[in-house]
Amino acid sequence: MAVIEIVFASIFLVLTLQPSTSIEICRVLCGIQPIHFPFRLDSQPSRCGYPRFDLSCKNETQATLTLPFSGDFAVVNIDYIFQNIWINDLDHCTPRRLLQGLNLSGTPFELPHPRSYTVFNCSSSASSTALEPAESRFISCLSGTDFSVVAMPTERLDLSTSSTASCSEMAKVLAPVSWTGGSDPGDGIMLTWKEPDCTLCESRAGTCMLFKNDTGMDVGCSGGFSNGLSIEAKFGIMFGVGIPVSFILGLLFYLKVNDGHNDQNPSSEASSAVKGLDGQIIETYPMTLLGESRRLARPGDNTCSICLCEYLAKETLRTIPGCNHYFHADCIDEWLTLNVACPLCRSSPEKLASDVASSSSLSS
Ligand SMILES: *[C@@H]1O[C@H](CO)[C@@H](O)[C@H](O)[C@H]1NC(C)=O
Ligand SMILES: *[C@@H]1O[C@H](CO)[C@@H](O)[C@H](O)[C@H]1NC(C)=O
Ligand SMILES: *[C@@H]1O[C@H](CO)[C@@H](O)[C@H](O)[C@H]1NC(C)=O
Ligand SMILES: *[C@@H]1O[C@H](CO)[C@@H](O)[C@H](O)[C@H]1NC(C)=O
Repeated sequence: MAVIEIVFASIFLVLTLQPSTSIEICRVLCGIQPIHFPFRLDSQPSRCGYPRFDLSCKNETQATLTLPFSGDFAVVNIDYIFQNIWINDLDHCTPRRLLQGLNLSGTPFELPHPRSYTVFNCSSSASSTALEPAESRFISCLSGTDFSVVAMPTERLDLSTSSTASCSEMAKVLAPVSWTGGSDPGDGIMLTWKEPDCTLCESRAGTCMLFKNDTGMDVGCSGGFSNGLSIEAKFGIMFGVGIPVSFILGLLFYLKVNDGHNDQNPSSEASSAVKGLDGQIIETYPMTLLGESRRLARPGDNTCSICLCEYLAKETLRTIPGCNHYFHADCIDEWLTLNVACPLCRSSPEKLASDVASSSSLSS
């Protein structure tokens, strides 16, 4: 009995650890946030990351990004495929940090599509009617009992000058377009990076990493499903076979060890893992059938950012209400069964679903 378990354990260890140590050492978790190339924790070897993508893991739970001129931010989420990172003030008041000026100099990150907002301090008697709620945003973490701090898109100001009379201007800030879009301030703000470009590699389930070449270091892709048998592909087959085999053996080992003294209910963990949208809600999001001209509402954007394929005539696209990003219907439907938010801008259409349902019944 004990001998069988030792044999299983050693096969399991050999298969999982030996071929993968060099890659696995660069894949770690900080809390629940997976950290891998181009990011690395300052405790990992420098070859695990790309220059200026260093994070630290505060208290072993909170991944933290330090901007050279703007200080520390909590990392809320990293999207390795679309190359977005969501950061938040450590005290959950990102607007305060934006007011102090978010300076991204010396970092690989940028604020996509920034919009100018004017921030006002309004006396409380005026606050309830001060600014149009649809366009302005009440900043609760900066407001007090007798005053409200509100942000308003700068280009909308001339439309409502009268309503800002009881407010004093504090500053103009650059913030994400979605800032007043009803997104939860706890989500922080999204930054993007362009270099190194690992989008294709990540979307093919490969491992993006630094490779030595004749003149220095270069970014390449190892594994994943690609065409042709390059060195990387052979490398990929090794892992593609190694992981399932060791997974099965590991599972056997696990079952063996837990056999007889397993008094927990494992299914309760698994069932709570999926947290996407209901199929009926997804069906309420508008669809477009592409004509022969393939003309779209946003010219120039002719590639689905989920499958990275160009849109073809007669294909069906689906639009996310609220942000109006569109994708292949098949791609986004699958995405939304696992995630509640738009993969591009992370705005969550769930709250808007009922509005959409009622407006589409009006227009039809
Ligand atoms: C570190 O975590 C512990 C418990 O997990 C918590 O009590 C403590 O406040 C945390 N420290 C910091 C600096 O966040
Ligand atoms: C960021 O801060 C540095 C140092 O204070 C300054 O030289 C640079 O001009 C700032 N950049 C922006 C965009 O404000
Ligand atoms: C807003 O104005 C009030 C006085 O009207 C002041 O007490 C308060 O500190 C101001 N708030 C900010 C964040 O500047
Ligand atoms: C090696 O990498 C550098 C970038 O680090 C790149 O400019 C150069 O073209 C690469 N050389 C080869 C032979 O791929």
